[in-house]
Amino acid sequence: MMRRSSITEKLHLLFLFLISFAAARAAAFSSHGLTDAEAGFIRRRQLLYYVDEYGDRGERAWKQTILSDPHNFTGSWVGPNVCSYHGVFCAQLPCNRSLTVVAGIDLNHADIAGYLPEELGLLTDLALFHVNSNRFCGTVPQKLRQLTRLFEIDLSNNRFAGKFPRVLLELPSLKFLDIRFNEFEGGVPRELFDKPLDAIFINHNRLAFDIPDNIGNSPVSVIVLANNRFRGCLPASLGNMSNTLNEIILMDNGLRSCLPPEIGLLRKLTVFDISFNQLLGPLPEEIGRMVSLEQLDVAHNLLSGRIPESICHLPHLQNFTFSYNFFTGEPPSCLKVQSFDDRRNCLPERPLQRSVKQCESFLWHPVDCSWFRCPLPPVVGVSYASPPPPPLH
Ligand SMILES: *[C@@H]1O[C@H](CO)[C@@H](O)[C@H](O)[C@H]1NC(C)=O
Ligand SMILES: *[C@@H]1O[C@H](CO)[C@@H](O)[C@H](O)[C@H]1NC(C)=O
Ligand SMILES: *[C@@H]1O[C@H](CO)[C@@H](O)[C@H](O)[C@H]1NC(C)=O
Ligand SMILES: *[C@@H]1O[C@H](CO)[C@@H](O)[C@H](O)[C@H]1NC(C)=O
Repeated sequence: MMRRSSITEKLHLLFLFLISFAAARAAAFSSHGLTDAEAGFIRRRQLLYYVDEYGDRGERAWKQTILSDPHNFTGSWVGPNVCSYHGVFCAQLPCNRSLTVVAGIDLNHADIAGYLPEELGLLTDLALFHVNSNRFCGTVPQKLRQLTRLFEIDLSNNRFAGKFPRVLLELPSLKFLDIRFNEFEGGVPRELFDKPLDAIFINHNRLAFDIPDNIGNSPVSVIVLANNRFRGCLPASLGNMSNTLNEIILMDNGLRSCLPPEIGLLRKLTVFDISFNQLLGPLPEEIGRMVSLEQLDVAHNLLSGRIPESICHLPHLQNFTFSYNFFTGEPPSCLKVQSFDDRRNCLPERPLQRSVKQCESFLWHPVDCSWFRCPLPPVVGVSYASPPPPPLH
């Protein structure tokens, strides 16, 4: 479902990115006696020529922190010419083409064990940093905040732990943030959603928080929060992401609220996955306005009522999965969706439904969505509208 461009495309983007910075650098000329070009030249010398004298810098320092490299990925990391190191990409500075800087690092799928040293902060021209599918552990270095040109960071599928790496929120150029499949824990700062990012992947960690209402401020096209320990409700402010949001995956997060009708505003959304939560009440009729929707997965929740016919008429809908809920009505058009799954509901005359007893006991307590809106009302003595827990058998 998630599109990942090849490294060539990324480097192309990187090139465009560097171009866009040429003007800014030219404007910053001679502020501290040194031109930016001169400063860049010094950095380059430190990295490329003086590495052996300093001994403990940049990639070299990194090599010393690598504990295991089963595929000999860093075997070529010797000598002063870091630009020839496997996985290290250099580029010319657009403002001075005779200056070459380390612009990208790509160690994806190298299965390397180790940690990231603070010295990575010396690579101040880095635009791309990809280390997905390795065994890096520890925390994310604080000095990465010096990487003011970094626009893509992929730390996914490693063993990083500790609190959400706030240092990433200080990177002014960052567009693509991917920390999925790690062991980050605790809360997620609200500021994440105020940053001008294009993609947020924080799924499969141990993060726990209520999705804040400022999520609607995020201009991302893709956001994956799945498989964490989020709680609470689905904020109505999601509707404010209508100009940019393409995919949102919120599965398996412990969300417990009704669905806000504002989600119908997401006219560019192609993938909407809220499965494996405890979402309640009906599917809002407004979902029928999400005209780009291709994949809709609401399975394994506590949803009920009749499926709105407008949903099954959505022009691009390919896969509508709504099994393991308590729906009681399904328009015939839903049986014509290319791929659908309606098992384990309370649909009369459909195969593989829940037992009459399960349906009756659940539907005995109608859900009052005014009690399951965002923000959730404070818990009071009696719970008026709470349905019973889902039957276990
Ligand atoms: C690792 O690669 C380097 C250079 O590519 C080579 O010289 C070295 O012998 C390799 N080491 C092993 C253990 O294969
Ligand atoms: C570009 O960098 C070189 C050093 O490689 C320096 O000699 C030259 O003056 C620089 N040009 C500009 C326009 O800054
Ligand atoms: C969208 O943002 C505006 C403020 O910019 C706010 O007034 C409005 O309530 C938001 N919409 C939703 C659905 O939260
Ligand atoms: C439809 O989506 C469900 C859940 O998202 C998935 O398990 C199933 O394989 C999909 N079906 C097709 C035909 O792609």
